Amino acid sequence: MELPQLQVKQFSEQSYWDARHKGEALGYEWYRDYASLRPVLTRHLPRQEPILQLGVGTSAIQTDMVLRDSYTAVHSVDYSPVAIERLEAARVESASAQLQGALSYEVADMRALGRHEDGCFGGILDKGALDALLCGDNGEADAAAALREAWRLLAPGAAYLMITSASPRARLPVITGAGVPWASVLVYEVGQRGALAGPFEVRLGAASGGGGGGGGDVDGMLGGAVGRLPEMGYSHMCYACVKP
Ligand SMILES: C[S@@+](CC[C@H](N)C(=O)[O-])C[C@H]1O[C@@H](n2cnc3c(N)ncnc32)[C@H](O)[C@@H]1O
Repeated sequence: MELPQLQVKQFSEQSYWDARHKGEALGYEWYRDYASLRPVLTRHLPRQEPILQLGVGTSAIQTDMVLRDSYTAVHSVDYSPVAIERLEAARVESASAQLQGALSYEVADMRALGRHEDGCFGGILDKGALDALLCGDNGEADAAAALREAWRLLAPGAAYLMITSASPRARLPVITGAGVPWASVLVYEVGQRGALAGPFEVRLGAASGGGGGGGGDVDGMLGGAVGRLPEMGYSHMCYACVKP
């Protein structure tokens, strides 16, 4: 019997996401919910500074950030107007003045966020958005464009926090291959029932070119604990990429 092939390419298509977001429950979370990511998020995304969330989908992470940890400004973007309209309607209808004031939404492509000024965000959250981009025919180039845009928008010393199922062997070449000289990249592994390992620091100096923008020598960067990840079953990775 011939089984239907998994069409991962569709994850890079806006029409797929529009159709999916029409029927998805608000609060549907890819990979992990706020409770399991909270220690890493609150460590790398400062509560008093504007935070940008890429590819929000129908996630409720931004709501949790405001209600549970008093984040003051979380701006979430997605290129699916369907997702953004639904989230904005929920914000307007919310009985919480705190949510109404702290949340904002925008239909925008994470590869080109030109409306926003350089260095205007104190942190960036990406849960599954770069993963979706990477599924397309031009995945590597699209991911590099998105990473350069994230870099442009980050304030000095701020972090781009990427949540993904991709192992360091698969993801570090993408992170370091975009021509962006990260000061440091830290890796966490988030497992079941609150299990958390890390942070483990990537040896960026081992990448060809001697810095975070070089790409190239993956084996060099996988030294120590980073090279052993993932060590847990059904886990996800968090990459905290810090701008100098
Ligand atoms: C795997 S889902 C993750 C959704 C949400 N972050 C979560 O964790 O539940 C990927 C999201 O990225 C969005 N997306 C994909 N490519 C995008 C792009 N180029 N610009 C903005 N959003 C994009 C999709 O519309 C989708 O909502």
